Amino acid sequence: MLGSALYPCFKKLGHAVRATDLTPRDKWQTMLDVRDYAAVRREIVKFKPHLVMHLAAETDVDRCEREPDHAFATNALGTQNVALVCGERELRMVYISTAGVFDGKKTSPYTEFDEARPVIVYGDSKLAGELFTRQHVPRHFIVRAGWMIGGGQKDHKFVAKIVEQIRAGKKRIHCVTDKFGTPTYTEDFARTLSELVETPFYGLYHMVCEGAGTRYDVAAEILKCLGRTDIELVAVNSDFWKAKYPAPRPRSEVMENMMLRLRGLNRMRPWREALAEYLRRFFASEI
Ligand SMILES: NC(=O)c1ccc[n+]([C@@H]2O[C@H](COP(=O)([O-])OP(=O)(O)OC[C@H]3O[C@@H](n4cnc5c(N)ncnc54)[C@H](OP(=O)(O)O)[C@@H]3O)[C@@H](O)[C@H]2O)c1
Repeated sequence: MLGSALYPCFKKLGHAVRATDLTPRDKWQTMLDVRDYAAVRREIVKFKPHLVMHLAAETDVDRCEREPDHAFATNALGTQNVALVCGERELRMVYISTAGVFDGKKTSPYTEFDEARPVIVYGDSKLAGELFTRQHVPRHFIVRAGWMIGGGQKDHKFVAKIVEQIRAGKKRIHCVTDKFGTPTYTEDFARTLSELVETPFYGLYHMVCEGAGTRYDVAAEILKCLGRTDIELVAVNSDFWKAKYPAPRPRSEVMENMMLRLRGLNRMRPWREALAEYLRRFFASEI
């Protein structure tokens, strides 16, 4: 999802970009498994990049909970492999992390100065990736995203799941009101990141759209943008979806971009505005 926004954004800025993925789905990608240290090293040594952006991850939270070894092999050791090579070659590195590193108990938005204390395997493994990045790469940007919105045809997260239900003709959609987060539009993220990496301000950043909401709020906005007043949105709590999504989610994944704001680099829009643009661009004509 994020790669499909970063690739065109950096190309447009005139950079030569080499994009890799575990299962390449487009002509502009080649295959690379970040769990394979030798392959990661070969790829980086051959391309000689000025900057490495490491987005690869196991993002299925429920699978991470069921298969912690797989989660750590990909999210922790995969990141260590990339970081070791970046450290050795004295390269700058971007690592994309997540709001899932927090325990979710805070009632105001998490800043970069709050302690990360994950309560799920996905968050644990992504935090381990942050630690490896810090340990091996002096010139790093660790950038935490929130609920990702983007990807168009490749979208496999919340917006796509709601759109799927609309396409299937559902007249009632159930959404939880007890989980809070900050949507993060991949296009805004790519633009903001492209500016950040041109600065010498290495370190940890939150990069989410402005504002916050529940899953219910996001679904309500989707229906509103698509003009689907015929669909009823039913408010439920997380127990309703427990069988399908068994991993516990932190109550709050709301973050604010304190570091970007203080550096004058916050270009993230309010999430409702960004979501409306995304829906217009990819889904409005077909629903
Ligand atoms: N999605 C979110 O809501 C969210 C929120 C916060 C942060 N993030 C972070 O943002 C980054 C980008 O995620 P995304 O949202 O763009 O999700 P995504 O579409 O699931 O992208 C992750 C990509 O990593 C690939 N991958 C998995 N294992 C790999 C391996 N061993 N080697 C190489 N590639 C591998 C996946 O390939 P397959 O599809 O073939 O498995 C997938 O293409 C990740 O670091 C994620 O942790 C995501």
